[in-house]
Amino acid sequence: MSPHPELDVLRLRLQDQGVTEGELAADPFVQFHRWFDVCSTAGVHEPEAMIVSSVSDDAVPSSRHVLLRGLDHGFVFFTNHDSQKGRELTARPVAAICFPWNILARQVRVVGRVERVTAAESDAYFATRPRGSQIGAWASRQSEVIADRSVLEDWYAEVEERFDGTDVTRPPNWGGFRVLPEEFEFWQGRASRLHDRFRYRRPAGPSSEWIIERLSP
Ligand SMILES: Cc1cc2nc3c(=O)[nH]c(=O)nc-3n(C[C@H](O)[C@H](O)[C@H](O)COP(=O)(O)O)c2cc1C
Repeated sequence: MSPHPELDVLRLRLQDQGVTEGELAADPFVQFHRWFDVCSTAGVHEPEAMIVSSVSDDAVPSSRHVLLRGLDHGFVFFTNHDSQKGRELTARPVAAICFPWNILARQVRVVGRVERVTAAESDAYFATRPRGSQIGAWASRQSEVIADRSVLEDWYAEVEERFDGTDVTRPPNWGGFRVLPEEFEFWQGRASRLHDRFRYRRPAGPSSEWIIERLSP
């Protein structure tokens, strides 16, 4: 017995229906919202979880999950700027994102340039976080080697004491990145590996229209 019978029914329906050219939104952000809403409404666990890949100076890629925390003209997430991803995205401001909605036989891929969000945006988001996460953001030197868990707990206790009785301010090395899409791909699994894949890309030149192309699966 599947733990998600409703999602299984929906997945089979989506696989059966497929995606046609005619139903695609001209704007990939609109299309993304449609698919995201399907996930949310259906109760997919953490549909905002996305895999972000960065590239090192030596051209070695690395991937990890983060949570999508904002979507305007780009995909916004928050992290420690001194972490591996933070350093790589700063030195080489390009990223690939994948939303692994495999429980619905779907995935969305995005490729684009990366910018830091403004300090005001990072402050505003940081202020909404639970106090424990705020303290944790100070306490974790993300991606550094530590001897054992007690190091982390000691740092946490220190920060807790430092901010005793006051609001926790945002660490200066913690904030948001925004991935500005230059390409999207919407993938819908179908029977017999004849999946539907649609890529949106920007044409060369001043046009703001997106070019939509079907890709072979
Ligand atoms: C579902 C999920 C969501 C996550 N969300 C975030 C996030 O929003 N920001 C973040 O810094 N790390 C997040 N993490 C942890 C990262 O995957 C990663 O371990 C951490 O950021 C260090 O990555 P790095 O060493 O490559 O920089 C998340 C992990 C999972 C599994």
